[in-house]
Amino acid sequence: TVPGDLAGRAVVITAGPTREPIDAVRFIANRSSGRMGFAIAAAAAAAGARVILVAGPTALATPPGVTRIDVETAVEMHAAALHHAADSDLFIAAAAVADYRVAAPADHKVRKADAPPALELVPNPDIVREVAAMADGPFTVGFAAETHDVIDHARDKLTAKDLDMIAANQVGAGLGFEVGENTLEVIWPTGRKTLGPMTKERLGEALLALIGERFHAAR
Ligand code: C5P
Repeated sequence: TVPGDLAGRAVVITAGPTREPIDAVRFIANRSSGRMGFAIAAAAAAAGARVILVAGPTALATPPGVTRIDVETAVEMHAAALHHAADSDLFIAAAAVADYRVAAPADHKVRKADAPPALELVPNPDIVREVAAMADGPFTVGFAAETHDVIDHARDKLTAKDLDMIAANQVGAGLGFEVGENTLEVIWPTGRKTLGPMTKERLGEALLALIGERFHAAR
């Protein structure tokens, strides 16, 4: 096999935002477009991998050869991702998963009242952390979108979540979310590499190649 070759490998990718309902018509979400995760899925399928893409709500078309599972909430994404991660070779968590959900969303539309309502939030499961902790689990890659101290926060996350690799990018005013070009600082326990700046589509290919190299080096 050539270095980085992922032909025939089972790859599970999470992508996009999650939506956490407040009531029957309202939700909490974030600015993730899903473009980075979809680009990685496209690159993985083009490289001959068997790709399952667990996608939050996005406007993007499914890349050729990719099996897509649409989800809305973090809890739904967790169930689908864990189910498929169990027999995968690689898990790439590109989704911007909401850290919290509304404790008790109303099943009707909440009416405007005299006083502003308080929202009680409860933590969502950390999907990539649970996958990284699986016995005989897949090679696990996370993302860290940060507005400051990108490298330090990414290293902390690599260790805290026990990941094999993390791709960090700066977000905020004109960077990261909602834009086409990006730079990634990719970190693993024994090394580091900068990818970009380039389009998210080309970054998807470059990152997948690097993941493939590290995957084979780790096995
Ligand atoms: O802790 P933080 O949300 O910044 O970590 C980001 C990384 O963790 C991303 O890879 C994201 O997909 C993943 N994540 C997850 N489940 C969560 C929160 C984050 O898989 N509930």
